Amino acid sequence: MKPCEPPTPSPTADFPARLIAWQKTHGRHDLPWQHGEPYGVWVSEIMLQQTQVQTVIGYYGRFMARFPTLAALADAEEAAVMEVWSGLGYYARARNLHRAAREVMTRFGGRFPSAVEDIESLPGIGRSTAAAIASFCFGAQEPILDGNVKRVFARVFGIDGFPGIRAVELRMWALASELMPACDGAIYTQALMDLGATVCTRSRPRCDACPVGTACVARASGRQRELPAPRPAKVRPQRLRFALLLLSRGQILLERRPGHGIWGGLLSLPELAAQTPSDAVIEAARWLATRGLMAGEPETMTPVIHGFTHFELHLVPLRLRIPAPAPIAGETALQWLPLTDAHDAALPAPVRRLLGRTDIE
Ligand code: ADE
Repeated sequence: MKPCEPPTPSPTADFPARLIAWQKTHGRHDLPWQHGEPYGVWVSEIMLQQTQVQTVIGYYGRFMARFPTLAALADAEEAAVMEVWSGLGYYARARNLHRAAREVMTRFGGRFPSAVEDIESLPGIGRSTAAAIASFCFGAQEPILDGNVKRVFARVFGIDGFPGIRAVELRMWALASELMPACDGAIYTQALMDLGATVCTRSRPRCDACPVGTACVARASGRQRELPAPRPAKVRPQRLRFALLLLSRGQILLERRPGHGIWGGLLSLPELAAQTPSDAVIEAARWLATRGLMAGEPETMTPVIHGFTHFELHLVPLRLRIPAPAPIAGETALQWLPLTDAHDAALPAPVRRLLGRTDIE
């Protein structure tokens, strides 16, 4: 008979057990909101959503002194809540906290709800915060996934991709559920938070002190700095524009742009009302004909690319040569400029770069 094969070692197998053991000796046990009423735990979790523990401690103390019970918070004026919150930032948190306190009074008879779905139904409480409160206060075995936990998971399990991307986040939620132990949920939840905040920190993680350091993918491959993957740079939309590069005996024809809009008041290449390269060739012929100018076929050049805040401009010059730089009747915005003067003229930077290119003449 074939002997049983040894079980395949799984990187997730003893992750919860190692974290729970570590939390008991190295985790945080004396934070002011620990082991208290759900009301205080809730207030602390909301404060800790965007603020570090050291800053929260003072605000938490003042908040609880001013509004010692959920009923006191519900009774307060919003202005009083904002006053105590002032300086902590992200003020929607305070407004939601106040609204939620009033909802607990009306919907739940003043008792903070224990079911995770009810907790999550309150203003300002997302899935992870609801799970943390349910786990700390009511012993629920609900997984959390906040920014710190995402960092721990990305590193320990080598998860690529920015965790703000829905697909990556869903994968992490699935992992969070898979890892959730059947008991000691509150200790495990606190362990995840403590590990992210004190060991697996964003910069200079203390891998030697990590309870799962020997199983960590990022550590084994030296990728602690790369994981989690940063937010991808915003892809700006591209705006394609065509412009005339009209040359004549070392001079170039430029157009003064209107005072408003991009490059307002600067001298630039005359732009064509065209969307496609073939339209641009037709537009160029029309542009020249209406101004009594004669030229051959335009030559489409390499585009000039310039980044604006909200889009990336791809400006395609169409080069044409005309015999003499004659003034253009009735067109005060147009002027000929010797190419040798281009570096001192009021040109947009990408146009100046273009005129400095060796391939333009
Ligand atoms: N960050 C979020 N919740 C926390 C908590 N309960 N303790 C420490 N850090 C936290």
